[in-house]
Amino acid sequence: MTQPADADPAPEENGQTEGPTEGGRFTVTYLRESSPHWNRARFRKVLEAPIEPADLAEIGRRRIALRSYAPQPLHESYAGRHHAGAGAEGQVTADLLSVSPAYGAVLYNLARSIDAKLLVENGAGFGISSMYLAAAARRAEGGTLLSFEISDYARIAQASVNLVDPGSRVVQGDFACFPGHLAGTAAIDLAFIDAMHDRDSMLRAFKSLIGWMAPQSIIIVDDLYYSESSREGFRCMMRMELHDFVCIVNKRFGVLIRG
Ligand SMILES: C[S@@+](CC[C@H](N)C(=O)[O-])C[C@H]1O[C@@H](n2cnc3c(N)ncnc32)[C@H](O)[C@@H]1O
Repeated sequence: MTQPADADPAPEENGQTEGPTEGGRFTVTYLRESSPHWNRARFRKVLEAPIEPADLAEIGRRRIALRSYAPQPLHESYAGRHHAGAGAEGQVTADLLSVSPAYGAVLYNLARSIDAKLLVENGAGFGISSMYLAAAARRAEGGTLLSFEISDYARIAQASVNLVDPGSRVVQGDFACFPGHLAGTAAIDLAFIDAMHDRDSMLRAFKSLIGWMAPQSIIIVDDLYYSESSREGFRCMMRMELHDFVCIVNKRFGVLIRG
């Protein structure tokens, strides 16, 4: 989904906004800074780290290849609900649905920053965000992505993921069933919530993750730019006080870091 430069402010809750550094691309609003491990300097360095050129090239080729796919209908669970980027008939293309290269790099770099080994994703779409996450997982020893996509784009998303990490999986199904795919002792290092962008759906996914997250872990939530409802969902997550470092990247990605 695209984000206009003059987007309405996301929930700033007295946070301090820091503009891009010289040459940087991101504006960050810091909302909580009580982590012993994270501070603005570290976060900024992670955001602006270069992404492995081979991974970037593979994902770029896949973006182009996906342009030849016909627009796909939204899953029936969207009945009557709007999806950003959807055409009049409720159909979407990969270009409209997927994270941009800049946000993809944020996913990749945050995962690499903690050497994330178990990553989960709610909403694979056509698998572009999944490719960034799976590429990061592959670079962590024993790392893997477990992604969920409710519609039959899951097949397309799995084919995308196979290009960077054939060991990572896209399950066709509701994210609500993710615990059934994890070992009882699994601890998730990074979760990306990018399915329905309304308060209740986002909060449901967030709450279901809580007991599974590793002591040092990251949850990224998209898309706070999308609606007041999605911003309210993020405010609720933040007020649960489960995270030590909380910020918003470019008014769009909510980032909650534990530890
Ligand atoms: C914004 S798109 C995801 C885009 C993808 N993350 C990317 O950036 O490449 C949201 C996706 O979530 C899927 N979805 C919606 N509800 C879901 C659910 N409960 N479980 C799994 N997937 C869901 C939709 O079918 C849609 O493909």
